Amino acid sequence: MKLFITALTACLFMVSLQAKSYIYVEKGIKLPLKNQKTILYSGDPVKVISKKGDVVKVKLSGYVSKDDKLKLFATKNLKLLLATTKKIGLIKIVKNRGVLEVEVQKKSITDDMDEAWEEGSDLFYDRCTKCHHAKIVEHHSMQDWNALFGSMKYKAKTTKKQNAKILRFLRAFAKDGILKESD
Ligand code: HEC
Repeated sequence: MKLFITALTACLFMVSLQAKSYIYVEKGIKLPLKNQKTILYSGDPVKVISKKGDVVKVKLSGYVSKDDKLKLFATKNLKLLLATTKKIGLIKIVKNRGVLEVEVQKKSITDDMDEAWEEGSDLFYDRCTKCHHAKIVEHHSMQDWNALFGSMKYKAKTTKKQNAKILRFLRAFAKDGILKESD
């Protein structure tokens, strides 16, 4: 029985570590990791590998371009940036795929997808619903959103910083994005 409980606990522990988490930057979009010469972005999906005190080791998986081995993207079309590194080799690359393992503070991780994306989402639902109902993000591809947003941002009179947040949100939740708003 004792063995069984130990095994079960170990199993539950593994499951909790496997669950999807997200980078969370409370104010802003970028999370610069000083010692590790890396920038992550709020909302990046990550896998938690290990936890030790206030430090969490996470893994990000994605795609890299042939000509730039310092950037990791979420999708093959290289339109949604997950991480920018300053040193070749931090992203482990096999063909067009890349994996990055980094340590972040516990407070920079959340299991709540909405929380991780709330800045971009709030801006979108606030600034982009003044003249029409909220357009359904999932109805357009990342590529379409580039063009649509390009013409709408002038109407919304948003700042550059706000634009970056809204655009990340639109790309992540687009038809060919990585997340679904209903999740
Ligand atoms: C000043 C008014 C105004 C604001 C603010 C505004 N829009 Fe629009 N938008 C329009 C008008 C007018 C149309 C054309 C009629 C329609 O589709 O409702 C339109 C159309 C659209 C369409 C449909 C285009 C198509 O071809 O199907 C999308 C998508 C869109 N807007 C997204 C946005 C986003 C994202 C924002 C925020 C950055 C935004 N809009 C802010 C006025 C606005």
